[in-house]
Amino acid sequence: MTPKPVSHSRTTLTELMIPSYANFGGRVHGGILLSLMDKVAYACSAKHAGQYCVTVSVDGVNFRQPVDVGELVSLMASVNYVGRTSLVVGIKVIAENVKSGTVKHTNTSYFTMVAKDDADQPTEVPPLLLETPDDVRRFLEAIKRKELRASFGEHFDNAKTRMLLAENIGKLSSERCQITDELRAQL
Ligand SMILES: CC(C)(COP(=O)(O)OP(=O)(O)OC[C@H]1O[C@@H](n2cnc3c(N)ncnc32)[C@H](O)[C@@H]1OP(=O)(O)O)[C@@H](O)C(=O)NCCC(=O)NCCS
Repeated sequence: MTPKPVSHSRTTLTELMIPSYANFGGRVHGGILLSLMDKVAYACSAKHAGQYCVTVSVDGVNFRQPVDVGELVSLMASVNYVGRTSLVVGIKVIAENVKSGTVKHTNTSYFTMVAKDDADQPTEVPPLLLETPDDVRRFLEAIKRKELRASFGEHFDNAKTRMLLAENIGKLSSERCQITDELRAQL
């Protein structure tokens, strides 16, 4: 397969935050931003793959700042990494107040997408042509995140398997929870 450059699929989605996107606090629902991120991840990955793509996992969704109604939100997406059938799309989200000119960086997140063929099976995607030092850095960072996620998953699974309630219950004494007397007697 011929490698495709990052620039081939780079995608920006800009949307005005309208009043119906607001939560009860008058700010934009996190779910609205997640939905927009999913859309731009789809557009970017499908352009690179030349196939229909599905979302498999999402990393790094930490909203650092609230987004207000009336702001213009832009989601800048590019393919950071490709495996055999999967792609990682990095998305930088900014919110702009057009009157004051202030721009907030709300989050940068990473969507792992998988390309599917007409039989709904994962299908190979073109390699990524890296043309700039940033392309190389993002590709390497994606490999690092993949390794960290694999190691975290393994440790977490082991920790869960070994988690004995009676041995660990003391850890809850400094937490903001309360165990009923009936439950405590059973543990
Ligand atoms: C994603 C999916 C195709 C993986 O199926 P599978 O039988 O595990 O297929 P494979 O083992 O061949 O994995 C395919 C690719 O997905 C990657 N993958 C699978 N699970 C993953 C996960 N949790 N996180 C990151 N990558 C994952 C694999 O590493 C592989 O990548 P590679 O080909 O680049 O090496 C399947 O789980 C699926 O269809 N999920 C539903 C996705 C969907 O519908 N999303 C929309 C939600 S409504």
